[in-house]
Amino acid sequence: MRTQLLFFDKQYFDFYKKLKSEEGKEIISVTDGLLNFEKINEVDENYQIVDISSLVSLDRIQYNAELVLPKFPYDTIFIADNKHKELFEYELRYCFENFIDIDSIEDIEVEYNVVDNSIKTKKLNHKRIIDLNSEEIQDFNDLFSNHIYGHEKFKDDFSELIRNFRVFNKLGEHKILSLFLMGDSGVGKTEVARAIHKSLGGKSKLAKINFGNYSSDNALNSLIGSPRGYIGSEAGEIFIKIKESDIGVILIDEFEKSNSTLFNYFLDVLESGKMVSSMAEEIDLNGFIIIFTSNISKEEFPKRISPELRSRFDYKGYFMPLFHSHKEKFVEFRIKNIIEKFNTNFDFELPENIATDILYRINVGQYKNMRDLNKKIKDTFVKSVMELLVKKDG
Ligand SMILES: Nc1ncnc2c1ncn2[C@@H]1O[C@H](COP(=O)(O)OP(=O)(O)O)[C@@H](O)[C@H]1O
Ligand SMILES: [Mg+2]
Repeated sequence: MRTQLLFFDKQYFDFYKKLKSEEGKEIISVTDGLLNFEKINEVDENYQIVDISSLVSLDRIQYNAELVLPKFPYDTIFIADNKHKELFEYELRYCFENFIDIDSIEDIEVEYNVVDNSIKTKKLNHKRIIDLNSEEIQDFNDLFSNHIYGHEKFKDDFSELIRNFRVFNKLGEHKILSLFLMGDSGVGKTEVARAIHKSLGGKSKLAKINFGNYSSDNALNSLIGSPRGYIGSEAGEIFIKIKESDIGVILIDEFEKSNSTLFNYFLDVLESGKMVSSMAEEIDLNGFIIIFTSNISKEEFPKRISPELRSRFDYKGYFMPLFHSHKEKFVEFRIKNIIEKFNTNFDFELPENIATDILYRINVGQYKNMRDLNKKIKDTFVKSVMELLVKKDG
């Protein structure tokens, strides 16, 4: 009995083969050994890996496998096409103790980075949406939904996007999930990024870049660092922000404020899943979510953002002002929050009905921007407390 049979994904076979050949190993087929047992004696377990996929074509797989496999040197590595996984797991249950997938993408990328040493690759330890199991994803969706008021259609779309992203990312076909959120100020675009960060358990600050600060000709240099040798050459803001964060989320605020050099840079980042600094340092953003926000209107969108870039975003959404009921919920939640903070800091008993009283005093219909509404909540709270104090003293 051997310890393990490794299953490969056909899609990555060539890559796997190339990698192994760089380690000095070649992949041979079990077929030769089946035709001529003598050949098996020549197999070198240190330099040869045996692909046993062709066993499927035999009539009596179990019988033949049990006959031929023990003849190979003890430490031989056996691999097989994962297409036949179920069949092999059954037929070869007396030949192998374990059946394991070569986690193609993960393993290959790690090894690949080692092979390619022209660029220093930074391995990040960020928690990403693709790191969650299906139970944790459920929790994530719930947390996210509760954090963001309204935008129900977006929430549904987003949870579907995540589901697909996790599958296609695993297949190596989708590296970064990108969202482009438009809409008026104060409707929750930036809050979406904060909510993802929080719902993934973020403890550090969210990696946030405001493109409003990057409109000059020299913007790309300040963002990704200036080339070696230049005065003030140092790591760019975006690398610093990403390294300081613990979660695989990046927020690019006011995206439209920047220029085409930066647009093209991001086009490349989304395509390659990597960010390369001008110091030739590279960070792997595989599995990251990047949220781009913008205050431009739907009509402006095609004028300001190039077709290439537009088509590159996985999701483009326009955020409408919140509905009345959602704004009321927001107010309720904020008041509760403020009262809690107040109670821990002040030794003054607030009347029980203060929350409903404040809610009653605020006409949410007057506010489209939740920032303004938030300010109104604070003002109203302070006013109410002042009135109570006056009453108490008087
Ligand atoms: N849909 C929402 N859900 C929860 N909070 C929101 C929502 N919209 C706005 N807010 C609140 O209003 C503030 C401003 O929202 P923000 O997301 O920064 O607006 P913008 O759309 O301009 O990016 C946030 O700090 C947040 O507390
Ligand atoms: Mg914003």
